[in-house]
Amino acid sequence: MKKQTIKDLLTDYKKVLHHDITVYGWVRAFRSNRFIALNDGSTINNLQVVVDFENFDENIIKNINTAASLKITGEVVESQGAGQTVELIAKKITILGENFTEELQSTILQPKKHSLEKLREQAHLRFRTNLFGAVFRIRHAISFAIHQYFNQNQFFYINTPIVTGADAEGAGEMFGVTNFDLNNIPRDEDGAIDYSQDFFGRKTNLTVSGQLEGETAAMGLGRIYTFGPTFRAENSNTTRHLAEFWMIEPEVAFNNLEDNIDLAEDFLKYVINYCLENCKDDLEFLDKRFAEEQKTKPEKERAKEGLIEKLQNVVSKRFKRVSYTEAIDILLNSKENKKGKFQYPIEEWGADLQSEHERFLVEKHFESPVVLFDYPKEIKAFYMKLNEDNKTVAAMDVLFPGIGEIIGGSEREARYDVLKQKMTDMHVDEQELWWYLDTRKFGSVPHAGFGLGLERLVLFITGMTNIRDVIPFPRTPKSAEF
Ligand code: 4AD
Ligand code: MG
Repeated sequence: MKKQTIKDLLTDYKKVLHHDITVYGWVRAFRSNRFIALNDGSTINNLQVVVDFENFDENIIKNINTAASLKITGEVVESQGAGQTVELIAKKITILGENFTEELQSTILQPKKHSLEKLREQAHLRFRTNLFGAVFRIRHAISFAIHQYFNQNQFFYINTPIVTGADAEGAGEMFGVTNFDLNNIPRDEDGAIDYSQDFFGRKTNLTVSGQLEGETAAMGLGRIYTFGPTFRAENSNTTRHLAEFWMIEPEVAFNNLEDNIDLAEDFLKYVINYCLENCKDDLEFLDKRFAEEQKTKPEKERAKEGLIEKLQNVVSKRFKRVSYTEAIDILLNSKENKKGKFQYPIEEWGADLQSEHERFLVEKHFESPVVLFDYPKEIKAFYMKLNEDNKTVAAMDVLFPGIGEIIGGSEREARYDVLKQKMTDMHVDEQELWWYLDTRKFGSVPHAGFGLGLERLVLFITGMTNIRDVIPFPRTPKSAEF
């Protein structure tokens, strides 16, 4: 018979009431030598196991302590106590893994409150906590909902390369990939590194985005999306940046900028809604935690809404759509800017927006998710469609409360000549991207796409504040443990 999870048991207990079943899990607590709170990771809820200790081997009872793993067979009965509908009366207990008791003392498995920093240092053990169990179950639900959304809308999942020669964003934030002996790097007559002798016979790096390859796929398959790891060697030690993060990049033939914004809004709302409907227990736990955390903050910094309330509001309201030019006007005329409250004051049209400006627009001015569009061409990537004003490009960023930029995208420049000119102006190597330019030579069509940073969406939905706490093993400057 298929093994039963604790989630199966707790949701469908009527089927097994008064029957004997076997469960597996880790001890979360053992009270009065009588009540085991058992968790197997399938749900945030523990199964209460009742042990009549007089009828059990003393050696077994002695070793049932927090973190130990057990196999238990017993009868499912209606619970006498409050807090759970059913419990298990243990008949047979097998200890699968005992604890190294002394070492346990210094781990986060000790049942007491640990700081998030401490939990991060033991990232390999934090899956055992209520908090990280909830976060990673929700991360899974988000990923699943993303695939489901695209599948239902006839998008094809494309795997773009992780090792690539292309710099999609042109921002020079790439990690090189080489097979050279670093103590003996081949050089040519001029002393430059001779990449022709490297493994791939050329200079390669870890991808910063699958977009350019994704675009070529959309030019044949119509609607595609990628979902994979991306790497950026940007030295930003913030709560919103990772050096390795997961990005979802849809690309759609025949879509223009407005279609692209519609897609982004519909897509985000679908995924958030999926979590509201399918992750109730975990969200309720995180909602309580969020409320507790707010209480520790000064009154002015507290969130206006609870976590679940925030998610419900985001799915029910239309996102505000605002051009870059309008946003600059709002910022220029804001009290904050006039009184010098911004670290980077806005001086004129053309300024790149910092996260403090994005958050002002979203959290103070509009109090709603905002989609900014039509940015100055100088501050955006080469592949974006040049608008008729010759000053702006058909770019869009989706900004979320508490997060800032969650999605970045654009309609693409589909005209060969204009694209080629932009590449020259922005010093993007045409020869390297010959294959990308080809897509504009043979049946080029308008098309658009965007990139969603998975971890930023997980941050938003879970109400966590540090991006290091929503990916199992974070990679950040000076940190690659595990
Ligand atoms: O705005 P970005 O750089 O856009 C692109 O890479 C485009 N090629 C996407 C496209 O049009 N297909 O990145 C997209 C998103 C950002 O909005 C942000 O959510 C996330 O990726 N992101 C990061 N997340 C975590 N850590 C980082 N260092 C990130 N850099 C970008
Ligand atoms: Mg961006």
